[in-house]
Order: sequence, then C-alpha cells, then structure tokens
Amino acid sequence: MQLLDVTELNTSFFTDGNVLRAVNSVSFSIPKGEIFGLVGESGCGKTMTALSIMRLVQPPGRIVNGQVIFEGKDLLLLSEREMEEVRGNRIGMIFQEPMSALNPVFRVGDQISEAIIIHKKAGKKEAKESAIELLRQVGFDDPGKRYAQYPHQLSGGQRQRILIGIAISCGPSLVIADEPTTALDVATESQIINLLQGLVDSSGMSMIFITHNLNIMRKFGRRIGIMYAGRMLEQNFVDAFFKEPLHPYSKGLLSSIYGLMGDQKRLTAIPGSVPRLAELPGGCTFHPRCPYVMPACREEEPVMKEIGKGQWVRCYLY
Ligand SMILES: Nc1ncnc2c1ncn2[C@@H]1O[C@H](COP(=O)(O)OP(=O)(O)O)[C@@H](O)[C@H]1O
Ligand SMILES: [Mg+2]
Repeated sequence: MQLLDVTELNTSFFTDGNVLRAVNSVSFSIPKGEIFGLVGESGCGKTMTALSIMRLVQPPGRIVNGQVIFEGKDLLLLSEREMEEVRGNRIGMIFQEPMSALNPVFRVGDQISEAIIIHKKAGKKEAKESAIELLRQVGFDDPGKRYAQYPHQLSGGQRQRILIGIAISCGPSLVIADEPTTALDVATESQIINLLQGLVDSSGMSMIFITHNLNIMRKFGRRIGIMYAGRMLEQNFVDAFFKEPLHPYSKGLLSSIYGLMGDQKRLTAIPGSVPRLAELPGGCTFHPRCPYVMPACREEEPVMKEIGKGQWVRCYLY
C-alpha cells in the first residue's frame, strides 16, 4: 500500500491566452518509509509538482486535473479546511531558503513551539519541552541555549535544521523537501542529508526530496524520478538508475556529472537546452536533443511504460 499515489497530475499557467503545462501528466507513488528523489534541471516543474500536492498553487497557475491519493484520500477533493489539517499536520514542508522561511524577530525555539501549539493543540510548557527535544533530534547538542537564539545568530545549515524541526514537529507521515541544501556549502549539505536520512530511518516517514543535483541521489533515497519540461521521463530504483539509466535524457544527465567530476569515462553532455514551456516541440519533448531520435519521436509523444518491476520510462527505445 502506497502512502502517496500521484496519478496524471496536470498543473498549468494560464497567461495571455497561453496555456503553459508546468506539470504535465505526472504520476508516481511512494511507499511508507521511503525517500523519493524528484530530479531535473531548473524550470522543469519540480516545485510546481510539490505545490500541487500541497494544493498551494497560486494564480495564474491552476491544478487542471489528476489524483493525489494520500493516506487513502484524494487531496484534490478535500475542502480547504480539511486540506489545512493535512498541511503541517500530516505533510511537512522544507524549502530552499532557510532565512526567508524563519521570522527574524522571534526566537527559533518559540517558532518550533508555535508550530506545535497550532498543530497539536498543545499547551505552552508542553510545546516548549517538545521543541527542545526536537532541537536535539535535528542535531543541536545544546538545545536549551539554541531555543533562545534568533535566526541571525545561526548559520545557514543551523537555520535549515530549525526548519526541519518545524517540518517534523507534528509527526508528519510525509515530508516534502524542496532543494533544502541548495543554498548550503557541500560539507553542510552532506550533514543535512545525513540528518534527513536518519530522521526517515527512525520515524518511518516518507519523503519527497527535490533537487537539480542528480549526484546527491547517488547515495540517498530508494527511488528516483527524472523530470524534463513538465514531464516525468523515467522512474527507477536509485541503484539501478546509477548503474544503467533508461531514458536517453537520464544518460545525458549522468554523463554530464561524470564530465564535471573529471571521471575517466569522458562522455559528452547533452547538446542544446531545455525548451521553454511556450515552445515545446511536438512528439517527445526531448527529441531535438536526443542522440537516439527516430521518426516516431517527432510524430507522437511516447507513453510512460513499465519495463521492469518499478522501472518506468517514456521512450520509444523500449
Ligand atoms: N508565475 C508563473 N507564471 C508563469 N509560469 C510559471 C510561473 N511560475 C512557474 N512557471 C513555469 O513553471 C515551470 C516550472 O517551474 P518550477 O516548478 O518552479 O520549476 P523547478 O522547481 O523544477 O525549477 C517553469 O518553467 C515556468 O515556466
Ligand atoms: Mg524549484
């Protein structure tokens, strides 16, 4: 039984008579206790997918259709009130910018307490005790002292730990982390990744980890989904993916990492650039850049096909 089952989710922007399909028939599911990496270049629809699941898409964007079954209920059919219960209570969120997500004038501990008071209807004293325990869980060995500090007194990595504390404060079954380490240096990034892995392992929650950095997923998470221009092009197990990615775009992404790392296997990066949503090519969206392009690819878009248990690819090669 899946914790989250997203089926044929479509979210578009409606501007000047144009329809931009930011999330284009995206489907994936996540079992309990697993980390799913949602990977793709900037602008491919990762954040819009996350916002659609949380029903936080703002106009001129709109969820057009699809299903988001979470804990057995379709979130797209809930009332706004029911959805508020889900947000912050059953699904926690961590975003890229730790500074802007924290309030500069309140002590960080109180910001965690506040979340606990709102979502768990706890009393002040009880909330403070839980907040201190959470500070310990997210890696502070002096939680009492940290509680009283203000955001500007903490480093970027420490602020991100506070936000992780807020996200897990109500014991969510799913956390959506949208590029939580992008603003951090590499050493801090790996500490945060270890923290997230530890929290998932100890709590049994599931996580959607969004990143434009494919390399992070090499040792993190169980499954991976590759997005391109609003489409999911491949879904695979992390081990299988890094051994042998299926989609030509995935192969190109992986080889561009090898190139960056100065690896022996010098493969060429993908020529060209991601098309703008207003100018999507017909057929497969990747065909103008694909080294394996065939006539069919220009005619009609391939469907997502399961070629092995849990391995999906949208490509005529399979
Ligand atoms: N306010 C907006 N108006 C029109 N288009 C938008 C708006 N916000 C995002 N988009 C479009 O949605 C696409 C996906 O954006 P996003 O999900 O933020 O990408 P990612 O998180 O993968 O970098 C972008 O390519 C952009 O064209
Ligand atoms: Mg984004």
